[in-house]
Amino acid sequence: MTTATATTVTATTSDLLAPEPIDDPAAHRVLTGDRPTGPLHLGHYFGTLHNRVRLQDQGVEMFVLVADYQVITDRDLADRLAEHTENLVLDYLAAGLDPERATIFAHSAVPALNQLLLPFLSLVSVAELSRNPTVKDEIAHSSQAAVNGLMFTYPVHQAADILFCKADLVPVGQDQLPHLEVARTVARRFNERYPHADGSAVFPRPRALLSEAPMLLGTDGGKMSKSRGNAVALGATEDETARIIRGAKTDTERRISYDPENRPEVSGLVLLAALCQDRAPETIAEEIGDGGAAALKRTVTESVNEYFRPMRARRADLAADRGHLRQVLHDGAERANAIADATLAEVRQVMGAI
Ligand code: TRP
Repeated sequence: MTTATATTVTATTSDLLAPEPIDDPAAHRVLTGDRPTGPLHLGHYFGTLHNRVRLQDQGVEMFVLVADYQVITDRDLADRLAEHTENLVLDYLAAGLDPERATIFAHSAVPALNQLLLPFLSLVSVAELSRNPTVKDEIAHSSQAAVNGLMFTYPVHQAADILFCKADLVPVGQDQLPHLEVARTVARRFNERYPHADGSAVFPRPRALLSEAPMLLGTDGGKMSKSRGNAVALGATEDETARIIRGAKTDTERRISYDPENRPEVSGLVLLAALCQDRAPETIAEEIGDGGAAALKRTVTESVNEYFRPMRARRADLAADRGHLRQVLHDGAERANAIADATLAEVRQVMGAI
């Protein structure tokens, strides 16, 4: 029950992973999501957000889901849920997601999506649910004394998130691969059990889109996470950014190098500057050379503040209009509901429920 690994799915990864870049953008529908638990940080940005905007700009149809029900899988209280949801939308828009092209919505606002959970649950065994390594890991990190039923069945709920709109590509991190495998299993079993009269399948088998996303470490050298206080938020001010980076852990060697294996903290900072400057980390390290940690941190702070300045300015403008954020969610839910209603009707029809 300690560390989640994707090792259990490696046997099928070639089948599970989609190639990048995408050849025919118009032939795909992408769905991805986040839990509304706090502001997005630079790790999210360079890990996934950046990639989503790129996919959107390539003309791929995008669905971006705010997983508000998921929040109550591992905590008793969904604290400030509406505020976190709106702020997530704010981060999305600031980062460049365009609500005219991407459908942004909260899954709790789409009843038919949630109803898909019922037939889907009948397709997986309790033993399969209890083997899921991501669930095991999330349980290990959960603040709850007992595992609740929603946590246990969560991967199936996530299958509904993905399949309601028949998404075929799901950009996720390594840790989510077991969940994606569940969605694929659900799709395959549903299609086998309930084909259309002409034999055609209701659902595609969604594939993961793993970007070569850099793993950014937090300023303490651990996993970057808002709750650990070691992350720079997308919407942080320039002063906050400087303060957090000034406090970052480094090491005693004066000469700066890029050596993730042996110098994870220093290399993490070099990588962050490199991503912001769109240059090789080795070059950045070379330039700082004997300048030591102080020079490194100055470079990182300037690079981050410069790169994110336009995004932060846009974010500040958007933040002033909460009504607009709610409207984006409202419009997104309307589109998602129309699609979910049609999928549920199709599901009920092939099941003979009408
Ligand atoms: N489980 C994902 C996470 O914890 C968030 C999520 C919810 C998601 N539904 C999704 C991701 C559907 C991809 C597709 O980060």
